[in-house]
Amino acid sequence: MVIQRECKFARVASARNQDRLMLMLFMLAANVWENAKINGPNVKLYNSVDDTPANPLFIGVRLEDVDGIVANSLAQHNTTITNDLVLIGFVEVLVSLYKRLVVKPERLREMLRKQGISGPPPTLLLGNIREIKKAQAQSKIKAPLISTINDDEPAAAATTTSISHNIDALLFPFFDQWRKQYGEVFVFSLGNTQILHVTQPDVVREITTCTSLDLGKPSYQHKELGPLLGRGILTSNGDAWSHQRNILAPEFYMTKVKGMMNLITESTMMLLTSWNSRIEKEGGIADIKIDGDMRSLSGDLISRACFGSNYSKGEDIFLKLRALQEIMSKKSLSMGIPGMRYLPTKSNRNAWQLEKEIHNLILKAVNERKQEAAYEKDLLQMILEGAQSSNFSQQETDQFIVDNCKNIYQAGFETTSVASTWCLMLLASNQEWQDRVRAEVIEICSDRTPDYEMLNKMKQLTMVIQETLRLYPPVAVVSREAFKDMIFRGINIPKGVNVWTLVLTLHTDPKIWGPEAYKFNPQRFSNGSSTHLYMPFGVGPRVCLGQNLAMVELKMLMALLLSNFSFSLSPKYDHSPTLRLVIEPEHGVQLLVKKLQDDDSLLI
Ligand code: HEM
Repeated sequence: MVIQRECKFARVASARNQDRLMLMLFMLAANVWENAKINGPNVKLYNSVDDTPANPLFIGVRLEDVDGIVANSLAQHNTTITNDLVLIGFVEVLVSLYKRLVVKPERLREMLRKQGISGPPPTLLLGNIREIKKAQAQSKIKAPLISTINDDEPAAAATTTSISHNIDALLFPFFDQWRKQYGEVFVFSLGNTQILHVTQPDVVREITTCTSLDLGKPSYQHKELGPLLGRGILTSNGDAWSHQRNILAPEFYMTKVKGMMNLITESTMMLLTSWNSRIEKEGGIADIKIDGDMRSLSGDLISRACFGSNYSKGEDIFLKLRALQEIMSKKSLSMGIPGMRYLPTKSNRNAWQLEKEIHNLILKAVNERKQEAAYEKDLLQMILEGAQSSNFSQQETDQFIVDNCKNIYQAGFETTSVASTWCLMLLASNQEWQDRVRAEVIEICSDRTPDYEMLNKMKQLTMVIQETLRLYPPVAVVSREAFKDMIFRGINIPKGVNVWTLVLTLHTDPKIWGPEAYKFNPQRFSNGSSTHLYMPFGVGPRVCLGQNLAMVELKMLMALLLSNFSFSLSPKYDHSPTLRLVIEPEHGVQLLVKKLQDDDSLLI
């Protein structure tokens, strides 16, 4: 039906544009339905961006002064739209939703079923989210992860503490159950996203090392994490991604990382000074919840790497990014639910507000820099020059800078901070390894501050960090989406299906690591890593850009802490790994920290 009358209203949706249709649904539901009235002879449907009227498959809504009869906007509830228009809108939205939520997922599952790949049956809108949450809640109740802490002698407690590192069973209990039911390859759903679970080594190898641009970061990530990541290197695909990678990669080469040694040392020394004064205040032994300190250190380092000597400006930005990240990380599972991101819930409104503030703050810092005569060759400068040499419009340039600043922070901040937190927890609960690594550090450094060459010689320390990243890989899952039909080792993956490589599961599989897979044993890395299934930094074309920087940061921190303090687990420590955007300790990590005797310590 073609509607002849006109009104003033905002362009919202094309029947071919799924996301905007979701928006349309909510706007209609929230603002329009009750208020829709025919208010004059001026309602018209618009066809597309060129404003040609009349195709009823398109719902065009415009804010223009067509006449003065009707109200100003949908949000103000003054809009007048014909009942016919609303009805057509709803029918179209419903048809489109039906296709998106029922027909397409079913078609993808059918294509997989024909190859013998099945999985748990999904429910509408949620997919398998409910079962996942239920299984996670049950596994928390079941497994006591920590045992025998000696309260009478807290300083000695670490030697008697037994901690379970089987966190795969805790975080992904449903996968174990589904593997038993449906085999190694199965399909499950988060919302209406169909995800293929694969763990066979040869299939994993092909997928993770695939260089085709037709396999990339899942589209739901940049949609759902839009306020946090935009379209920076972490979520972009195709040519846009390779362009960003080419600009950023040289900034993380080892030669550049060596140039960051001073700022890494400076930031770490600040932490040492602060712990030292706490220990003095608390009478020789301090009970410290370390996660906050690890976060501050990691944030401070990225601020300095990005903004050089102007890092205090960066700190404001990163504090807001941290707040935004906290909001987003609480959503993780609800991400797949269609349309959730459009609802003006409290957390969405907070996220939108923070996104705006961060955008403005980054651009303000960039503009101030342009006024300065001399500038540093820090990361921000590289991103700026990269954007300027790219024939972008002003708006695209701004977006490129903002998104990539946010991406670097996001990629490097939480990952490094949880890695150091877990590493200290493991050293605190394994006194023998703590002593071994300390002896190595003191032998190599004597009474000097570690430099790059010294860090390079610390083999035992490297092994401890590798083992930490095996048992507690910050990035638990690496996910990809097929942008066209693809075949991996005989498995036909239809366009639109996501593939998950379960890093945590592969890292602790007894078939790969032996019967002691869940034990902390850095010795297994004495000859480096012998398997391509060890991938804390990912593998293939999208391997972590910051891994050199992260390893140097972690080594410097551990070397300085071990050479100045001894630590054990606090009796207050509650071992509770949880999966948000990264694997982190739900209740933090609490350590008893003691200063080493003066003649043992290196620096303070
Ligand atoms: C222990 C610390 C870190 C871990 C465990 C880690 C892990 C990872 C992983 C697994 C990926 C690949 C994700 C995928 O394939 O989907 C990745 C990508 C990335 N990482 Fe890291 N990362 C760490 C630290 C850092 C740091 C310090 C930076 C920079 C400051 C950084 C920058 C990046 C970037 C830019 C990417 C995206 C690469 C691309 O998509 O082309 N990472 N990281």
